[in-house]
This record gives sequence, structure tokens and C-alpha cells, in this order.
Amino acid sequence: MVLLMDTPTICMIEESIKETNDIKTFIFQYDKNTDPGQFYMIWIPCVDEIPMSVSYIKEKKRGITFRSIGEATKALSKLDKGDTLGVRGPYGHGFEYTGSHLLFVGGGTGIAMIAPAIEQVSKMKKKVTCVLGAKTKDELFFVKRIKDTGATVFLSTDDGSSGSKGYASDLASKIIQSEDIDAVYTCGPELMMKSLYDKCKDIPFQASLERYMKCGVGLCGQCCVGEGLRSCLEGPVFDRNTLQHINDFGVWKRDASGKKTLL
Ligand SMILES: Cc1cc2nc3c(=O)[nH]c(=O)nc-3n(C[C@H](O)[C@H](O)[C@H](O)COP(=O)(O)OP(=O)(O)OC[C@H]3O[C@@H](n4cnc5c(N)ncnc54)[C@H](O)[C@@H]3O)c2cc1C
Ligand code: FES
Repeated sequence: MVLLMDTPTICMIEESIKETNDIKTFIFQYDKNTDPGQFYMIWIPCVDEIPMSVSYIKEKKRGITFRSIGEATKALSKLDKGDTLGVRGPYGHGFEYTGSHLLFVGGGTGIAMIAPAIEQVSKMKKKVTCVLGAKTKDELFFVKRIKDTGATVFLSTDDGSSGSKGYASDLASKIIQSEDIDAVYTCGPELMMKSLYDKCKDIPFQASLERYMKCGVGLCGQCCVGEGLRSCLEGPVFDRNTLQHINDFGVWKRDASGKKTLL
């Protein structure tokens, strides 16, 4: 079998939106069919190529939303409307929806990828409840966008500056106890997702795992979790049946050199 890796398509940034102090969204034309939960490999020439979830899907326009944390994302954040970046993908699998009342839980930049998922589900006439969590109120984003879908939105911040004080997973677990939730979908810090997974044992559960990626197409093995599952190919969204066999879930991940680091 010959595996072909796409070369990046050069896309011009049509819109650059500042969501928070260090989070930005870029919208560009890219007409390849993309499902919420899938990701692109974003090439910043002369710097790096990094995985980014799709955060915006409308007709032929696609978007990414990222926090500036290291070399690549800092270089990305210096780009603006009219600049170009390289895009290949989409790769991986997104969420699969089951039941009629769905709970989405997004923490930090994990909010970016759940927004298009909620927009998709709202067209299926399902009831959506959503918890958006961040360290502090200035780090919350997409709140209006998600409320505009008709979803019931709850906010949580670690410092209590907006919504409930505490972790998104704790607020979500209270909602699970008081409402009839058919399935839970989450993306965010892995410890938050693991805590949520432990709390909703009888409910279908899907989580998007963030692992260090290099090729993005299943060739290099850098993103393996559990017994040789490639996050870029078999994930990044995994369901409960698979997560229960991934012993590194919520415990450790590999750095750029492949060395295990505790979460
Ligand atoms: C499937 C997937 C989807 C993602 N979607 C988003 C998103 O929508 N928005 C967003 O802000 N971030 C997203 N990320 C994370 C983003 O890819 C990393 O934050 C980015 O690669 C950091 O690069 P850097 O050079 O700026 O930081 P670095 O200085 O290289 O690293 C900062 C931190 O990011 C981790 N990291 C670095 N490179 C990668 C990589 N290639 N893959 C995974 N982790 C890495 C490092 O371990 C370190 O903890 C996603 C990651 C994955 C795997
Ligand atoms: S990033 Fe290379 S196999 Fe997943």
C-alpha cells in the first residue's frame, strides 16, 4: 500500500479575529469536507507545522482558533488578514452523536473544536447543554456564538470571575446528576477530561485527545496512545470503549523526542 501525504495548500487569511488576549481565530477559504473534531496540519513556513482542530465550518470557509504558547503558535499569532499559511488535511475522526440530549464540555482552547460540533448538532434538532470552562473570565471565548445555536450554556472559571467557581468537569458532573443526559462530548485539558470520564460511567462518552503530532497521517508513530492507536488516524476523538484500554489517558503523554511526560 502506498500512503500519500498531501502537500500543504497555501491559503490566505481572510479574517483575523482576536478572541482573548492570547487566543486568535483565522478564517480562510479551504473547501475540503471537514467534520467537527477533525484537524488540519498548519504549516508556518520556516518555523514548524502543527496540528489545529477546525473551529469554523461555513460553506467553503474554514477556521482555526489557537492560543499563542510556543514558537509555532507565537509565529502564527503574528500573521494577520492577507497573510498566508499552509493547510493540509482534514485528518482524524470527529464526534459521533447518539441520543437526544447531548452535553458538551469544553475547557481552555478545547472550546475551539466543540463550537462547530454544537453548531452541527443544533441543526439536528437535538437538545444541547454545554459547559465552557477557563481559568478566568478573560480567557472564555465563543460564548455568544454557542448561545446563538440555542444551546443552554453554563460557564465555569477556576477563580470564580465568571459563572461557577471551579473546574468545568465538576460543574458538568452536577448537570449529569440533575438532567437526563444521553451522551457527553469533551475537549480540553486531559486531567479535566479524565475526571469527567470517571464521573459519568454509565453515559456514552467521547473525548478528543491532544498528542504531539509530526506526520498527522499515521506514518511516524509519534502520537500513539494505548496499544499502538495513532491519535492522528484512529483519533483524536476516542469513545469510552477505546478510552478504557488507553492506560496513558489522564496519566502521561510523549514530548517531541518521544519521552513520556506525566500530565
Ligand atoms: C489534534 C490536535 C488539535 C489541536 N487543536 C488545537 C486548537 O484548536 N487550538 C490550539 O490552540 N491548540 C491546538 N492543539 C495544540 C497545538 O497543536 C500545540 O499547542 C502547538 O503545536 C504548540 O506549538 P508551539 O510551537 O507554539 O509550542 P511548543 O513550544 O512546541 O510547545 C508548547 C506545548 O505544546 C505541546 N506541543 C507542541 N507541538 C505539538 C504538536 N505538534 N502536537 C501536540 N502538542 C504539541 C508541547 O508538548 C508543549 O506542551 C491541537 C493539538 C492536537 C494534537
Ligand atoms: S502524527 Fe505521525 S503517526 Fe500520528
